[in-house]
Amino acid sequence: MKSLPLLLFGAHCVTSLAADDGALKSAGLRTEYLADPEGVEAAQPRLQWQVECPQRGQGQTAYHILVASSAEALARNEGDLWDSGKVTGDATSQIAYAGKPLVSRRQCFWKVQAWDRNGAASAWSEPAQWSMGLLKPEDWKAQWISFIDGTPLHTARQKLHLPPAHHYRKDFTAAREVKRATLYFSALGIAEMQINGHRVGDAYFESGWADYAKRACYRTHDVTKLVQRGGNCVGAIVADGWYSGYVGYGMFVGYGPNKTGRNIYGRTPALLAQLEIEYADGSHETVGTDTSWQTTGDGPIREADLLMGESHDARVPMDGWSKFRDPNGIMKWAGLNWQPAIRAEENGSTKAKFFESGAVKEVELGFRKPPKLAAYTAPPIRVIEELPAKRITEPKPGTYIFDLGQNIAGVIRLKVKGAAGTVVQIRYGEMLHTDGRLMTENLRKARATDFYTLRGDDAGETWQPRFTYHGFQFVELTGLAEKPAPDAVTGLVLGNDMQATSDFACSDPAMTQFWKNTVRTQRANFIEVPTDCPQRDERLGWMGDAQIYVRTASYNADVSAFLTKWLDDLEEAQRDSGAYPDYAPYPFAHGKPGATHGTAWTDAGVIVPYTIWKVYGDTRLLERHWDSMTKFMEWRRRADPDLKGVSLGNTWGDWLNLGEQTPIEYIDLCYHRLSALLMSAMADALGKREAAAKYRETADALARSFRKQFIRPDGSLSVDTQTAYVLALENRIFTEPDEARAAALRLAQKIAANDSRMATGFLGTKPLLLALTANGQNDLACRLFQSRKFPSWGYEVEQGATSVWERWDSFTKEHGFDGANGKNNAAMNSFSHYSFGSVMQWGFQTLAGIDTDGPGYQRIIIRPNPPSPEATGEPKPLDWVKAHYDSIHGRIASEWRANGASFELHITIPTNTTATVFLPGKDAASVTEGGKALADAIGVKVLRGEPGCVVLAVESGTYQFQSKR
Ligand code: BGC
Repeated sequence: MKSLPLLLFGAHCVTSLAADDGALKSAGLRTEYLADPEGVEAAQPRLQWQVECPQRGQGQTAYHILVASSAEALARNEGDLWDSGKVTGDATSQIAYAGKPLVSRRQCFWKVQAWDRNGAASAWSEPAQWSMGLLKPEDWKAQWISFIDGTPLHTARQKLHLPPAHHYRKDFTAAREVKRATLYFSALGIAEMQINGHRVGDAYFESGWADYAKRACYRTHDVTKLVQRGGNCVGAIVADGWYSGYVGYGMFVGYGPNKTGRNIYGRTPALLAQLEIEYADGSHETVGTDTSWQTTGDGPIREADLLMGESHDARVPMDGWSKFRDPNGIMKWAGLNWQPAIRAEENGSTKAKFFESGAVKEVELGFRKPPKLAAYTAPPIRVIEELPAKRITEPKPGTYIFDLGQNIAGVIRLKVKGAAGTVVQIRYGEMLHTDGRLMTENLRKARATDFYTLRGDDAGETWQPRFTYHGFQFVELTGLAEKPAPDAVTGLVLGNDMQATSDFACSDPAMTQFWKNTVRTQRANFIEVPTDCPQRDERLGWMGDAQIYVRTASYNADVSAFLTKWLDDLEEAQRDSGAYPDYAPYPFAHGKPGATHGTAWTDAGVIVPYTIWKVYGDTRLLERHWDSMTKFMEWRRRADPDLKGVSLGNTWGDWLNLGEQTPIEYIDLCYHRLSALLMSAMADALGKREAAAKYRETADALARSFRKQFIRPDGSLSVDTQTAYVLALENRIFTEPDEARAAALRLAQKIAANDSRMATGFLGTKPLLLALTANGQNDLACRLFQSRKFPSWGYEVEQGATSVWERWDSFTKEHGFDGANGKNNAAMNSFSHYSFGSVMQWGFQTLAGIDTDGPGYQRIIIRPNPPSPEATGEPKPLDWVKAHYDSIHGRIASEWRANGASFELHITIPTNTTATVFLPGKDAASVTEGGKALADAIGVKVLRGEPGCVVLAVESGTYQFQSKR
């Protein structure tokens, strides 16, 4: 075999923490998964870092952590808060702070030193820091404030009601030199804070979505740089957000107060903000929201709704509104109708009838103080990419459509010039009709339209919305007198700002493209909660989608903190019965009357925590949700005392399958077993032996019940669908390997009989390729991965997809939006739905072969699964794959190339971890590493031979294996 082109193995550069001198280096310090977070709430925050060393087989044998109350003390190596001393061990994550009790507002500076396997100490890491939030309710001195809301509660179901955002401001004087200033705030609604004319931070949609009747999130910002000695102003713009704006499909189906779909949690937005100043002389001052703040609803933001859009009238003179009011200056904003803010409760009670599936209840929509304020623990939502428009078309005179070239979620920056009073209407769509018109049918009741009224600046004007976002690739501008310039529209991609953690490419460009589509779609949907889709009036944290996709999500990005936050939403949404609902947060019930949950959706409450533990080794998360998960399992058991599988609530089942219905009871039995298996593994991880044994027994009993009900004497299943076989294989119902292989063969025959096409929906598709490869059908798995026939991932790419679609045929070149059979429902046809992207779990775990062996990638499995040398078909079977995954320990890379019987595998195993490598090959004698026989390779030990592969124990480092298959 010719040596590999540099392009393949030299293209990416492994992020290197390594010092040039070959010593161990510790870096990448994180607290509660985040870099230098402000406002941490955990009493014992968990610390993590990574160690790296270019030598093979290196690792950490001990560490020393110092946590100091000041940067200066830390620089002097004084751990006045915590000095861990030298602690033996290889742990670099999930290390709980164990120093002096951490009080509210405490600033903590920390660093770490590590010892390598030769006993040599690394240098101290660069310092990192965190601050504690406001831990006790009495820390909050500020009052919840609002404006006098004289508008009657909206009652017209089919008519939009879009109130303006309100501005709040307060001048104050900082009497002495400011040492530190910190802003803590929360909103019932969403808020943008400003100080002295500057936006505080760069996050969108603060302070976040929660079930406000139980909890509101708060944010902490270090604003030392924004506050000055002398006159200052702190301001806020507050909009409806999830609290009182339109949520989900409430309007569409007539849910919520008066069936309007808005005011789900309350009538009038409210703000709580507390600016705490520490002066250089050690004294303190607090400026908190109270009735001395001024507010106006006459500002430029005339409408501000997450789903419907934002309207901005730039003629309203608002410049300088959040700057200190200079008594001698001319401030046009002061001419607006500013009124004293009121205490939020002064708006009084508003009772309304709240409609949801199967129920009408009377609710209180007047201000209720959230019983709990919780620190926001996810990374903030930010602009994570800017996209210039690629093309402008003019399908109709005066209608200009900008194409961003890819389907995203976010907002735009508008840059226009024109006469004062000109109203630009901005509409958004994911696709165009064949005649070039914007396609908006799939937005359902989401108006997804912004309006900008020009102030008429000669130099032109720019604007970007603050309180809305849309799912789109195309932006339509109307209302301009002249053709806009190409830079009139820039796409701003929004998302919770998680670190991207992977790369994937393979010899089939369509499938490389498909992986990119999953990343894009994940970004578009990991906005505040893992949503199903960003464009239509839905955007709910649908649990079935989340559990199917969570493992893929964890390859694509560091989802630890984001999902940690969402799991709090989920536990908060748990039903009294113990069931987890269909989506979280849970603003209203949907589906069958009285049903709150559905098989496989409800199980997300177990599957997602399990996955976070598996990927990040997070046992604290399991402890946190253990009681809730136990309650869930008790409910599941009560719901099915005979363990036969039942029809639970909403029977979404194998959603969007193609003509093969798998009975819900069958699916339920499989998912009950899956949840029981995962519970037993989690119980083991927590040292809960009795619980582990109990769940194992339940899982066994479910498997016995399954066998009795569904396996025929000849080994076939009485439920004869592809998904039935896949779920049985995924859940290890077949105890003997031969039995499982026979089942996989039957599955393969069923697929062949279906013209080599999948018939699986959400539930069957995710484990399909995993089950095939694990049970002797890898060539078929690879073929399906590359298939271009409808339905397939490749088909979607060939129809032009830049994101993952809700349906395989959301658009076809032949029938447009009517689908492959001409029957699609245009309103239920999202172009940004990650569920079918779950195949990338197989792409990373099985095809590239990067997996964890036990929790948290401390031990790694590298097990690539190339198609066999005999594999044939069109497109040409994959002959190379290169992928990497940045685990909690650092980068793991797997790159392989197959050429007939020759196989080449290049891998990187992070320092401080070890790997078991299952190298395709006939025997150890035919394997070389870096051109040398295995016996001479440093860091490699042959463990055994297995049919078709050689099993190696590999130390950390970079390796180049060659083998003969
Ligand atoms: C969502 C799905 C979700 C489903 C439940 C849909 O409206 O978009 O992805 O899981 O409802 O069947």
